[in-house]
Amino acid sequence: MANFRVGLGVSGGIAAYKAVEVLRLLQKAGCEVSVAMTRHATEFVHPLTFKALTERHVIVDDYAADNPDPIAHINFSQNIDLLLIVPATANIIAKFANGVADDFLSSTYLATTAPVMIAPAMNTTMWEQPATQRNVAQLKNDGVHFVEPVAGELACKTVGTGKLEDVENIVAQAMALLAAETQGRRESEPSAVAGGSAPHSLDLKNEHILITVGGTREAIDPVRFISNHSSGKMGFAVAEAAAARGANVTVVAGATTVESPRNVRVIRGITADEMFAAVKNELANTTVFIGAAAVADYAPANAADAKIKKEGRDTMTLELKKTPDILAEVSRSRHDGMLVVGFAAETNDVVGYARSKMEKKGLDLVIANDITKAGAGFNTDTNIATIVSHTSETELPLMSKRELADKILDEVVRLRHST
Ligand code: CTP
Repeated sequence: MANFRVGLGVSGGIAAYKAVEVLRLLQKAGCEVSVAMTRHATEFVHPLTFKALTERHVIVDDYAADNPDPIAHINFSQNIDLLLIVPATANIIAKFANGVADDFLSSTYLATTAPVMIAPAMNTTMWEQPATQRNVAQLKNDGVHFVEPVAGELACKTVGTGKLEDVENIVAQAMALLAAETQGRRESEPSAVAGGSAPHSLDLKNEHILITVGGTREAIDPVRFISNHSSGKMGFAVAEAAAARGANVTVVAGATTVESPRNVRVIRGITADEMFAAVKNELANTTVFIGAAAVADYAPANAADAKIKKEGRDTMTLELKKTPDILAEVSRSRHDGMLVVGFAAETNDVVGYARSKMEKKGLDLVIANDITKAGAGFNTDTNIATIVSHTSETELPLMSKRELADKILDEVVRLRHST
């Protein structure tokens, strides 16, 4: 029997051909996949391709004469564990956000009770339009999961955000969501509840946890800056998990692309200097410091006061100076009993570099991840990490960032009781 049943919705963009690869990877992962396409999607990929691969009728129009099921949008929508849209155009996102049900795929969205995951792909201007961003925010608010588009060269030959995330990452995130949903259902089943306590008690209720989150932005001039791909997802997941376990949580956030969790105090510190100043202000009461921010290691030595003009310059050299290492500074000046946790995003010799960071910065725990692995690193909802302490090394499989957050906090609790 298949592990999961996935409804794959394909809407009409050039990236529709990548949905074929997503289908293959889902099948390899043991999923039974049914496909629904919008009319425009069929201009890019013929339904026959999906029909041959799934050995099922591909629904475009439920009133079509060749449709074997007269109430397909209900039967399709009620018999899936996940509705995954790859690619999602601005138009299908707008329809979902506004409850428009004028074709099979949009009717399916309204009729399903399964979780929905959307992987958008479109031209940068269309993605950045306030209307699209409003619709995306609305859907996130409605509980829809997004695999955010990434920056890169687009089909229209422009470079910007709007490119479909790598198909491997989309499938990794879909599988992580399916696994998390199954786990959640098991935990809410009556037998599980009757069997004992909630998965985590309020085991952090005596802790004041300070977490840095997101990427910093270092000004070149009033309109330009140096930054990185950090979304803030990992740090916010740790903040949310810690608050759920009773901790008093403060987050110092740089630039983030996801919303901050509720029940958590958020202070903004956009540059490394601002982030450091905000952290120093909060340190007195802090019992656990977690450095999850991607702090720029260097910033322009002299940011220009006015916009730098390109006229007369064929090349440009920026002089950079080191930023404060917030994590190392916090660790150096820590008071008794304070635990300090860092992250190490690496591309090779992951655990080796994590251990040397632990020694150099004087840390209690390092969460090491290989950002070259599919499903790990920036902008994904999942991660693959090894939690390194002075006495242990715990290699974890692919899991949602929220699940990893609890694993990290389990280690914090363990360290607290072992000191
Ligand atoms: N960090 C920090 N302040 C900085 C740089 C990093 O607080 N200026 C923290 C990050 O939040 C993370 C950890 O240090 O928890 C690891 O950061 P990373 O940049 O990966 O390590 P570096 O020590 O800067 O080493 P390198 O970039 O050479 O790998």
